[in-house]
Amino acid sequence: MAAELSGKVVIVTGGARGLGAAMAEAVVAGGGKVLITDVLEKEGADTAAALGESARFLRHDVTNEADWQAAFDLAVAEFGRVDGLVNNAGVATGELLENESVEHFRQVIEINLVGVFIGLRTAIPVLRAHGGGSIVNISSAAGLTGLALTAGYGASKWGVRGLTKIGAVELAESRIRVNSVHPGMTYTPMTAGLGIQPGEGGYPGTPMGRVGVPEEIASAVTFLLSDAAAYMTGAELAVDGGWTAGPTVRALTGR
Ligand SMILES: NC(=O)c1ccc[n+]([C@@H]2O[C@H](COP(=O)([O-])OP(=O)(O)OC[C@H]3O[C@@H](n4cnc5c(N)ncnc54)[C@H](O)[C@@H]3O)[C@@H](O)[C@H]2O)c1
Repeated sequence: MAAELSGKVVIVTGGARGLGAAMAEAVVAGGGKVLITDVLEKEGADTAAALGESARFLRHDVTNEADWQAAFDLAVAEFGRVDGLVNNAGVATGELLENESVEHFRQVIEINLVGVFIGLRTAIPVLRAHGGGSIVNISSAAGLTGLALTAGYGASKWGVRGLTKIGAVELAESRIRVNSVHPGMTYTPMTAGLGIQPGEGGYPGTPMGRVGVPEEIASAVTFLLSDAAAYMTGAELAVDGGWTAGPTVRALTGR
């Protein structure tokens, strides 16, 4: 069920496909307007077009400050205000710590963490001018625990979680809420190449035994964007089938 977002204008980064596209769809389903941004121009334009008049697309690299300003300017020009930002754009890694190159580590931090930082900085004056708002930062289950093979990625997602807390305490007086969402393994173009399968039993290492689908992450995000979450800031919402809750009975006993 879509969260109530009537009259709200939300920017979703990395919204061309995967989780971001599902979030954009959920914003529109809740009655809101969405500016989808991404570096993937064709996919982004197609995703926005499929959502009709309530959606726009802008090419936007989250590492670029001028692109960020252009995104907020366009959202205000097209829809008159901005109430929400979802910092969703991100890239993944899959190397052992000792094999990760310094260059690649820096690249991942630049997109996944510096990109979120610039987004927060750019959002603050705009949201303040419109009486406040809600920022949702997409971290990861890898930002709640030490996940092997995620050196740059995991570090960036722990950073996103920390930045969320700082934003929450600094911005509460401005009526800007800042929360993080921590998806577990979810079936998207980012993860489809990892050999995971959607559906029951497809991911036995997690308590629910399956991977998530993008709509299950999107519903947590739209809840945090909505007034139903009016007293929530600085929270971290794991949406991971129980993966970060602890080891399964099977993992502990072999049964
Ligand atoms: N899928 C999962 O299992 C999972 C789990 C935990 C966290 N996440 C996080 O959720 C977010 C979305 O992931 P997804 O699975 O939908 O991946 P995805 O690869 O399908 O989508 C990510 C989008 O971000 C865009 N992007 C990448 N670099 C960018 C940049 N510099 N500027 C603007 N856009 C850029 C990509 O073009 C892509 O459209 C990411 O932050 C990811 O780390 C995903």
